[in-house]
Amino acid sequence: MGGQMNKNIVLIGFMGSGKTTIGKSLSQALDMKFIDMDHEIEKQEDKTIRELFQLDGEGYFRSLETEFLKTRLDDRNTIFSTGGGVILKEENCELLSQLGSVVLLHADIEHIINNIRSDEARKNRPLLQEKDYIGKIKHLYKEREEMYLNAANLIVKTSGRNVSELAEEIISKVNLK
Ligand code: S3P
Repeated sequence: MGGQMNKNIVLIGFMGSGKTTIGKSLSQALDMKFIDMDHEIEKQEDKTIRELFQLDGEGYFRSLETEFLKTRLDDRNTIFSTGGGVILKEENCELLSQLGSVVLLHADIEHIINNIRSDEARKNRPLLQEKDYIGKIKHLYKEREEMYLNAANLIVKTSGRNVSELAEEIISKVNLK
């Protein structure tokens, strides 16, 4: 079979770990489609993530994530970038592993804080609207770290490395068959 029959790659990781950036780079390098889950959910619901959290609540958003994953299980040749909270539900972790090779972008906390410090980066992240958002990041990071590690087939350390180095490492290690 040709390249179009590649298995999917599913990128997971904390907010600000670079899932979208690295996903796009992988998509170009491997000539695979790129799908950003948050973005698809926003289009489907015609609301921003922030509006969804505000108007419908986090629980509703979490159920949309699960429904979205279920509709994609027949996809191939696609790089999926997921929302940082997708690993919170055990059911989602199961669906992620059915969807493809699950790659964790494992950034350390300083790196994460640096990436999401700007107003622009926080604007659309409803979980980081509070004054002590750094405290919130640290709390969520600690609470979730184990879940990310458990959900992943491949763990890639991102700190101190550029996008092309990371894409190369993923390409050389991920199982696309
Ligand atoms: C979330 C991460 C966000 C988005 C939503 C909730 C989380 O995605 O899905 O704001 O719970 O970590 P990114 O990881 O792309 O920021």
